[in-house]
Amino acid sequence: MTVKTVLVTGGAGYIGTHTMVELLTSGYDVVCLDNFSNSSPEAVKRVEKIAGKRVTSVTGDVRDREVMSRVFKRPIDGVIHFAALKAVGESVAKPTDYYGNNVGGSLALLEAMNERKVRRIVFSSSATVYGVPETLPLSEDAPVRPINPYGHTKAMVEQILRDWCAADLTCTAIVLRYFNPIGAHPSGTIGEDPHDVPNNLFPFIAQVAIGKRDKLTIWGGDWETPDGTGVRDYLHVVDLARGHVDALRYGFENTGYRNINLGTGQGTSVLQMVAAFERAASKKISFAIGPRRAGDVAACWADGSSAQQLLGWRAAMSVEQACVDGWRWQQQNPDGYRGQRTAG
Ligand code: NAD
Ligand code: UFG
Repeated sequence: MTVKTVLVTGGAGYIGTHTMVELLTSGYDVVCLDNFSNSSPEAVKRVEKIAGKRVTSVTGDVRDREVMSRVFKRPIDGVIHFAALKAVGESVAKPTDYYGNNVGGSLALLEAMNERKVRRIVFSSSATVYGVPETLPLSEDAPVRPINPYGHTKAMVEQILRDWCAADLTCTAIVLRYFNPIGAHPSGTIGEDPHDVPNNLFPFIAQVAIGKRDKLTIWGGDWETPDGTGVRDYLHVVDLARGHVDALRYGFENTGYRNINLGTGQGTSVLQMVAAFERAASKKISFAIGPRRAGDVAACWADGSSAQQLLGWRAAMSVEQACVDGWRWQQQNPDGYRGQRTAG
């Protein structure tokens, strides 16, 4: 069997690095395209070390035509498109940056794919496209009603991919709607590396545990949930990465457009997450209950049956395991990739 080559845009980022490891160890060749706007070349080196295989790394922007025509000179069998900006609050403050990068970047990528007749794409969408859930669990046919510019960029790219597939019946777009990825690779050498104050719960807790932050503020203790704190569907990033390999294989065997949720189907509250991290790190996590955060919902978790039926995928790792692995990454890399302590 000939080895297939996958282009991974945004491959140096949090989910991209974990996915490249799983692709390489599943026998794919990988071309990584990243402008390193939110990542580091060191991350790609560490992926190569874990997998024991080389990645072809191209530094550049998906919106740069010259870069894209260079990337597509080599035969590419399929694309996984991670490259995007992802901070909800920033998207409200800088909407044009978000539409430009996330929608404009996706269009530039599809144009380059059209030119080279590359017809397979796996796209990083998000549970954020559902907005405020009407019923739980969320299945793929729930209404798409984003409530911020970031969510709108994902919904727009979904629509573009739907139309792209309708125009050419040999095309395949697998749109993965992720719930809340957490944790790190069990090696402790790749993980999430937020450059500013983390917005997300998991990296914030990890930074409190390591002593970088004094305490966690819990955004609301009076939600309509069993313990009053927000409930989310947290999935281990390695499970999520494996879901991409399964989606890619499905994409090589099928044509057309598909939305697929990737989540565990289980809800975990903020207080339960704090307790799980305390057990993993053997440390107390200081916290205080603050006001509700604008734009938050009480609870959100996935109906994961499509992923199971279509891809044969289900989350195998627990929140506890994610805490153990995330804590290992945090301890070994207190300054993320800038510290470079585990590179050698
Ligand atoms: P990340 O910021 O760690 O990774 C994104 C990568 O894309 C970075 O390496 C960045 O440098 C690169 N990039 C951004 N714009 C680019 C451009 N124009 N050209 C080339 N490279 C570019 O983010 P992540 O958490 O790994 O997220 C990956 C994808 O998954 C994103 O599309 C994000 O919207 C989506 N997603 C993430 C989450 C989450 O909680 N992390 C949840 C749902 C969806
Ligand atoms: N939370 C706190 N304190 C914090 C950070 C978060 O209490 O400092 C709470 C939130 O209020 C929420 C829960 O922890 O109840 C999870 O919050 P995150 O910010 O970690 O995650 P969200 O569910 O708000 O959003 C994330 C991504 C979105 C994505 C969504 C669904 O940030 O981009 O998951 O995939 F769309």
